[in-house]
Amino acid sequence: MTSDLLEQIRQSARIPRHVAIIMDGNGRWALQRGLPRHAGHREGMKAVRQALEGAVEVGVQVLTLFAFSTQNWQRPPQEISALMSLLEVYARKEKAELKRRGVRVRVLGDLDRLSPGTRRAVQGIMKATEGGKTLQLNLMISYSGRDEILWAARQLAVEVREGRKRPEEIDESTFQEYLFTRGLPDPDLLIRTSGELRISNFMLWQLAYTEIYVTPVLWPDFTREDFFAAIADFQRRQRRFGRVDAT
Ligand code: FPP
Repeated sequence: MTSDLLEQIRQSARIPRHVAIIMDGNGRWALQRGLPRHAGHREGMKAVRQALEGAVEVGVQVLTLFAFSTQNWQRPPQEISALMSLLEVYARKEKAELKRRGVRVRVLGDLDRLSPGTRRAVQGIMKATEGGKTLQLNLMISYSGRDEILWAARQLAVEVREGRKRPEEIDESTFQEYLFTRGLPDPDLLIRTSGELRISNFMLWQLAYTEIYVTPVLWPDFTREDFFAAIADFQRRQRRFGRVDAT
């Protein structure tokens, strides 16, 4: 399908390498229709496909989706199991298609908390798509930015205790090697749907200089055109990384 916005985006040299998304508003989408919350999450899967489609078309290298936070474990058990079964079905059903399209899937977070069946399914999709070169899709599951930083700090503390590292050697690039996103560029753009102006414990280290785009669209209604609108907005921004512009 052609899109004027996509053509415009492709003419710019500024294609974000890494886009992260806080997919929000599934519950409100369902509520507005008198449906149970899990119906919003199911509909949200369509938007996941739209965003992935858009990212491939734009030429983004890494797409990171916040699918389930550590705090989400406190939701009612039925909602948790609905989300987990969506993840499991996605991992089993879309494995072959994602592999064919060169999408490398990584599921990042505290995977020990997943049920054995869900864990097997996510390990299966990661293994099957390992060689994908078109785009890396990170699904953040049972994830929190503070937890990720704490895990890194703990591992580094062990390295120091065992004498493998000296404290003064620990700089930003060393620290990054201990995060789930090791080896990846930081997100250039963060998209949040449903109008909330919060980071919600997401990629706290990696978002330091990321451009933020918030849209009122609820996640289940998000389309590839909405994705293109976010990219076009990003292309109009001036990124300074704390510096002043050269004159
Ligand atoms: C936020 O909406 C959304 C989530 C907590 C889950 C997002 C999950 C999906 C779209 C499906 C699973 C994804 C994959 C890739 C397997 P909310 O429930 O907080 O909405 P609300 O703020 O309106 O209540």
